[in-house]
Amino acid sequence: MKRFIPSHNKEKHKMNKAKRKAIIAGNWKMNKTPSETTAFVKELAPVVKDAECEVVICVPFVDLQNAVEAAKGTNIHVGAENLHWKESGAYTGEISAAMLCDLGVEYVVIGHSERRQYFAETDETVNLRTLKALEKGLTPIVCVGETLEERETGKTEEVLKRQITVGLKGVEDLTKLVIAYEPVWAIGTGKTATPAMAQEVHAAIRKILADTFGAEVAEKMQILYGGSMKPENADALLAEKDIDGGLIGGAALKADSFVALIESASKAL
Ligand code: PGA
Repeated sequence: MKRFIPSHNKEKHKMNKAKRKAIIAGNWKMNKTPSETTAFVKELAPVVKDAECEVVICVPFVDLQNAVEAAKGTNIHVGAENLHWKESGAYTGEISAAMLCDLGVEYVVIGHSERRQYFAETDETVNLRTLKALEKGLTPIVCVGETLEERETGKTEEVLKRQITVGLKGVEDLTKLVIAYEPVWAIGTGKTATPAMAQEVHAAIRKILADTFGAEVAEKMQILYGGSMKPENADALLAEKDIDGGLIGGAALKADSFVALIESASKAL
């Protein structure tokens, strides 16, 4: 596989993003077995060791142990794809924050649109999960985004505002979490928001954060884009001033394309 090439051309975006480190986070969804996980991380680690962005892989629960083991001593951070908000107890099939922490997991995806759509997640449960993750020292990647119908009926901002204000209610230090803007119509469909469309929404999200939590903290927040991000469109998306990285599904499953995205994010810092 090609070697990672650090970028030396950062002047252009230095001012905009100086306060925010880019994050490239893979969201594997229901893909890869534990042994495939070990092989993937071993392949990835030497190639991305000089990455200038944060490298995260969010993997299925059963892959976490292998991912953490293989990522030890590397700059790859491991995340889960969900957690339950209760401390422990009679919740068959669920996974607690303490279990994730004990494994050495650092990040957790919360409120992904697939969880909202297929598993009845609501803004209220997103809020409960986010608060529990923060309490235990995990970094939540909280997903927000509108459906096609909501976009077409002009409800994008209203939906985002509700998802953010309800989902993040009671959060004391907003900088301990990451937001991922994922327009539902762009996830796994090959349809990407154009860089201008994505930037417009990212700026709107930053404004909602500023109005709700204060301008200073909003400026520090990392807002990732997700939805068919791939090597072909990453440079243009990541060059936008309010796009601080990506939450990546399909293109995170192959080391080559994931590395290309990490290179793009390092350039855009
Ligand atoms: P995609 O998924 O990159 O395959 O569109 C993104 C996500 O759902 O996080």
